[in-house]
Amino acid sequence: MTRQDRADATGYAASVLVGYASRHRGTVEIAEEIGERLEASGHRPTVAPLSEVADLAPFEAVVLGSAVYEENWLPEAEAFLAREFDVLGARPLWLFSSGVLMTLGLSSRVWLPTKLRPISRALKPRGVICFGGKLEHARLSREDRRRNPQLLALEGDYRDWEIIDAWTADISRALARLGEGRERAAE
Ligand SMILES: Cc1cc2nc3c(=O)[nH]c(=O)nc-3n(C[C@H](O)[C@H](O)[C@H](O)COP(=O)(O)O)c2cc1C
Repeated sequence: MTRQDRADATGYAASVLVGYASRHRGTVEIAEEIGERLEASGHRPTVAPLSEVADLAPFEAVVLGSAVYEENWLPEAEAFLAREFDVLGARPLWLFSSGVLMTLGLSSRVWLPTKLRPISRALKPRGVICFGGKLEHARLSREDRRRNPQLLALEGDYRDWEIIDAWTADISRALARLGEGRERAAE
């Protein structure tokens, strides 16, 4: 039996929000992959754009992600963190970003926008990661090209699904441990 099987064998199905902010779907597909893997491990994920999440009450745990634009999370993701700060602080929380510049030459790294570091320190997420992103030049406006000339040398899909799946497996195991803790507390 692998460690993953043992975690799944607890039979604990956590309801998890996988909320995302994206402009061109690269981050949507990462959130969907995370949701699929959590579901395959026996949890109950809801994958949704953060702009459509009104209430965190139904969720025991939260995975939040945003695409990186000009070194920041998208405004709706920043606003969500600020608005839901109190509830997020009381939930197991994981944060992910996806970007092509922040991960140059790497599949992933521990990174958050500078602006979000104080809030992240306060929320104490159980995991923080930046995955590679996906960039299509056809999507860049003239203004995008002027403001971000470094992007012109980078086109492609830098998402590493093995890394994304491995990160999600850690979340699944943490959620299973949470279930074990609750079972023990109820005995
Ligand atoms: C205008 C623009 C600015 C960007 N700025 C950054 C950046 O500062 N850092 C980074 O790592 N990636 C940056 N990227 C790359 C995006 O983060 C990457 O393409 C991401 O996968 C987009 O996600 P989405 O398809 O979900 O919107 C930028 C892309 C664009 C188009």
